[in-house]
Amino acid sequence: MGSKRIITNYASPGEVALAGALMFRETAKESLEKQGRFLVALSGGSTPKGMFGILAQPPFQDAFDWAKCHLFWSDERSVPPDHADSNFKMAYDHLLTKVPIQHDQVHRMKGEAGDLGQAAREYQETIARVLGNTQGPASPPAFDLIYLGMGGDGHTASLFPHTTALKETQAWVVSNVVPKLNTTRLTFTYPLINSARKVVFLAAGKDKASPLARVLEGPPDCENYPSQGVQTVNGIVYWLIDQDAGGQLSPETLSNKGNA
Ligand code: 6PG
Repeated sequence: MGSKRIITNYASPGEVALAGALMFRETAKESLEKQGRFLVALSGGSTPKGMFGILAQPPFQDAFDWAKCHLFWSDERSVPPDHADSNFKMAYDHLLTKVPIQHDQVHRMKGEAGDLGQAAREYQETIARVLGNTQGPASPPAFDLIYLGMGGDGHTASLFPHTTALKETQAWVVSNVVPKLNTTRLTFTYPLINSARKVVFLAAGKDKASPLARVLEGPPDCENYPSQGVQTVNGIVYWLIDQDAGGQLSPETLSNKGNA
């Protein structure tokens, strides 16, 4: 039995993006009310791009105090921040330049670093400093909200099938060699992701249908379907999906019957 999971099926990728933006606004308001700040990690991918566009406009743009938000990233490609493939750049272009966020509260991963292992350790230190690390490295702090996507191969963040980061039980952020893309990426690990209060997957498109059915209904197999390893300890995992992505799920799964 895994963590608490809620699946919501939308008609189109645009509706998934809107639902993602509503989740951002609702969780920001909740967190600001409770603790005076909002700690969120963004992801790369196509659906978040639509979500950023929505968040950058009224009524989202001025719905809460952006100056009290801290933005992080759940993964990054090994490119400089002005590169077309940079996850930071996508958020910068579509969101950060359009909302009144404090620049020193935007914490990007240094994908351009020569030593990505060191960049991962520094990012973990930044997380510990900003979120607070009262219980030591063995117990990662909780983000209020972490956004994730799922690739057609079942990967999430930059936790790709059969890569070493899947086995990480200590570090919160690692550099992960991804042989099939002939690259190395920076990524949050399961221990950090699974400590979050809310994790939100945005998944749209037909290429997600088969892996999504394996992730949500198949036997345990994180090595082949890393998204399956996202099982929050105390939080909730939300799947915001469109009809195409949910095309191979059973009615029971879609109605959240039997979810932990
Ligand atoms: C990245 C990601 C990655 C992404 C998925 C889904 O840097 O590429 O963060 O994990 O979320 O590949 O991407 P799409 O939403 O574009 O399908």
